[in-house]
This record gives sequence, structure tokens and C-alpha cells, in this order.
Amino acid sequence: MEQGKVVRQFKSKKGNDVVFRYPTKDDFTGVWNFACDLVSEDTFIELAGTAPTEEEERKWFDEMLDRIEKNESVNISVFVNGAFAGNGRADRGKYRHSHVGHLGLSLAAAYRDEGIGTELMKALIDEAKALGLRLLTLSCFENNPRALHVYEKLGFQKAGIIPNAVAYKDGFVGEVKLYLPLTADSANL
Ligand SMILES: CC(C)(COP(=O)(O)OP(=O)(O)OC[C@H]1O[C@@H](n2cnc3c(N)ncnc32)[C@H](O)[C@@H]1OP(=O)(O)O)[C@@H](O)C(=O)NCCC(=O)NCCS
Repeated sequence: MEQGKVVRQFKSKKGNDVVFRYPTKDDFTGVWNFACDLVSEDTFIELAGTAPTEEEERKWFDEMLDRIEKNESVNISVFVNGAFAGNGRADRGKYRHSHVGHLGLSLAAAYRDEGIGTELMKALIDEAKALGLRLLTLSCFENNPRALHVYEKLGFQKAGIIPNAVAYKDGFVGEVKLYLPLTADSANL
């Protein structure tokens, strides 16, 4: 994956200029600020509690770049009107799951519901196919109907729900497991 390469450029439904590109080392501050904002928001993502320190985030970020370099991950940085506004990734599994990619994506609160997440999912699916992955999986909180709508719109199917698997706010919610076969034969697995 060539660092910084633009993979998609378009106007959102609200007329904002959106660029999808591969990450570069210079994205660190944007990525870290974005992670801290998501933690403050306490939204539908795994990261929660205390915001990551610069050292923790740097470790995560460098490992992410390393995984991309080794073709173990595809990652897309999202920029809206020139500012970092989200990212999406597909991480290749290991050993018996090396044909499977696990997806994750999030956008800055200011730029949701204008079609960017749908385009990001499409771009990630294309990247995952180019990486040779045969199957994509996703986990989504049961109380996140917007994300579930986007995933199902793009062909993901629900495999099931693990009740109360996620600690969310003051209680627990179910974790929905979804999958998308990328090849005809993986649809019959
Ligand atoms: C989930 C997320 C990536 C989706 O991206 P997005 O840009 O907001 O989504 P889009 O604008 O492309 O599409 C939203 C769709 O959901 C629909 N939607 C919005 N709120 C909804 C709701 N409460 N119930 C059902 N559908 C809803 C919209 O109508 C739209 O549908 P359409 O394209 O068929 O018209 C983004 O909202 C986000 O980052 N959310 C916070 C973090 C998160 O949830 N991450 C995913 C973790 S699994």
C-alpha cells in the first residue's frame, strides 16, 4: 500500500469535499485527536473509558502502519474539507483465518449521515478484495441501527447476536456479528 495514495474523491450529500487516502506517518495527530473525540463522545466503538495517551496511540499507530506494510491490513484515512475526519480498516486474520478480514470504521460526529460511511465501506470492500481476502466480518453494537443499516445495505448478513457482550453506558447491549463473502465459493463455506 503506497502511503498517501488517494483512492477516492467526491462531494458528500451535503456538498463537503471528501478524500479517501492511504495513511501516512503525518496523520498521527489527526488520528490521535479523532480517537480522543470518539472516547469523549462515548459512542458505538470498542475504545472507551480514558482517552489514549500519546504514547499508547503512537504504539497503536506504528503497529497499524507496520501491519499495512506487511499486507496484514488495509486502512483508509478520511479527510473532509482538508481535515482528518475518520478512518476505516480491514485487518487480516492469522493462521486459519488468514483469508478473513475484520472491518471497523468510524467518522467524526460532524460528518455522519451524509453518505460518507457508505462510500467508505464500498472502498474498504474493494481494498479487501485487492488484498485477496475472501470473507469480511464485522461486529456491531445491537443498539446502533444506523451502522447496521449501512452494513446490510451493502450485503452484509447477520450471523447472530451475542447477548450482553458489550458494556455500554450504564448497562450491557448485544453484539451483532455480520459477514460478507467476497468470492462465490466463500459464500458456500
Ligand atoms: C456508522 C457510520 C460509520 C456510518 O457512516 P455515515 O456516513 O453516518 O452513514 P451514511 O450517511 O453513509 O448512511 C447512513 C444510513 O443510515 C440511515 N440511518 C441513519 N440513522 C438511522 C437509524 N437510526 N436507523 C436506521 N437507519 C438510519 C440513513 O438514512 C442512511 O441510509 P440510506 O443511505 O439508505 O439513506 C457513522 O455514522 C459513524 O461513524 N458512527 C459512529 C461510530 C460507529 O457507529 N461506528 C461503527 C461501529 S460498528
